[in-house]
Amino acid sequence: MNQGNRDGFASRFGVIAAAAGSAVGLGNVWRFPYVVGENGGGAFLLVYLGFVLAIGVPVMLSELLIGRKSQRNIFGAFHVLAPGRPWFLIGLMGVGAAFMILSFYSVVAGWTMEYLYLAFTNQLATVSSVELNQIFSEVKSGAWRPVFFMVVFMAMTAFIVKSGINKGIEKYSKLLMPVLFVIIVLLCIRSVTLEGASAGLEFLFRPDFSRITPHVVLEALGQAFFSLSLGMGVMATYGSYIKKGESLGKTAISVSLTDTAIAILSGIAIFPAVFAFGIEPGAGPGLVFVTLPGIFSKMIGGYFFAFIFFALLVIAALTSSISLLEVVVAYFTEELKMRRRAATWLAAGLMTLLGLICAFNSTVFNLFDNTSSNILLPLGGFFIVVFVGWFLGHNIVRSELEADGRVARYFHLFLVVIKIVAPVAIALVFLNQLGLINF
Ligand code: PHE
Repeated sequence: MNQGNRDGFASRFGVIAAAAGSAVGLGNVWRFPYVVGENGGGAFLLVYLGFVLAIGVPVMLSELLIGRKSQRNIFGAFHVLAPGRPWFLIGLMGVGAAFMILSFYSVVAGWTMEYLYLAFTNQLATVSSVELNQIFSEVKSGAWRPVFFMVVFMAMTAFIVKSGINKGIEKYSKLLMPVLFVIIVLLCIRSVTLEGASAGLEFLFRPDFSRITPHVVLEALGQAFFSLSLGMGVMATYGSYIKKGESLGKTAISVSLTDTAIAILSGIAIFPAVFAFGIEPGAGPGLVFVTLPGIFSKMIGGYFFAFIFFALLVIAALTSSISLLEVVVAYFTEELKMRRRAATWLAAGLMTLLGLICAFNSTVFNLFDNTSSNILLPLGGFFIVVFVGWFLGHNIVRSELEADGRVARYFHLFLVVIKIVAPVAIALVFLNQLGLINF
């Protein structure tokens, strides 16, 4: 099964940086704060944390395990582990989800690049909130602007991916993730030292349990899936590049903790500023594109902080998009026997075409967004844990978890979670999002 000279991650830090790079993305810095804002703050955060630990970590571990055991892309993995069975359809669904997610993700990433440019050329400073709204709608729907920045972003993504795992994805993740961390810490320091910041921290950390409704609970689970990059084969693909000597359990925990820490730090960077300037926390998706620039323009050092904030968004988006592209490239090279370079440009080209449709047609944008995050990811996650829990033999699971030579003391707990807890929880979210049940 082992393909001798297969490309792979060279170091433990590289594994964590790449996988955390995938998880930490627009989902953390753009989506998480506004979802927390819309769902009442602290109480949502607690539920979210519970889901990350109880479901996110086990699903991630299952994915890593499938990848490393099979040494294949997400489609080939099921062929190797369950030959002649229809499980490979989950792999195909993952490849399809990668196409869908990256095509709308690259559009939002294009906006973040344009905002980086606007911040750099000082075009966001001292403009009114009406003008900021206008800028946002021009960025979204201008004639050439959304296309130009999206294409540049996809080209950067493809450039990294075509260079391979060790010399591309690992190298850039090791460089970019520490930069991202430094930026977010700087932003947090600025935010909490604003006058009136404590109200924002209280909103984020003091749970008001009356705000917990079944809907809030389900939102939290959906956010956990998207934010941790679960359910479509990113973690399985990366898992296939991890050496046998590494502990998959530790990897899953470190990546999940990093992702959660960055989400919380984003909250700490954003809410104190939002409250200090007397703005509604539930501003929705425009929070980082309209609300924050307004705050930066009133802040001492605003030019600098606006610039590094949008740099942070671009970096976060880039290390996530490379993981999405890699899912497809691994499939093209291993199953369709294409060369890496050709596979990369072909996949990136196709995704850019789909992205163009998303950039100009908000119905398609929303369709891709909703279908992938609300249907494909939970469905994929459900089948992945069911596959590992009920289909793949317990001996195989155990030996893969203990391939680093240490006893996996969490083994039985892990089995209970992936056999029962996780599938049931995912099924509830899934049914709710399809509208088949309504809490
Ligand atoms: N986790 C990424 C984010 O938070 C998005 C993503 C989802 C990436 C699924 C890969 C797969 O932005």
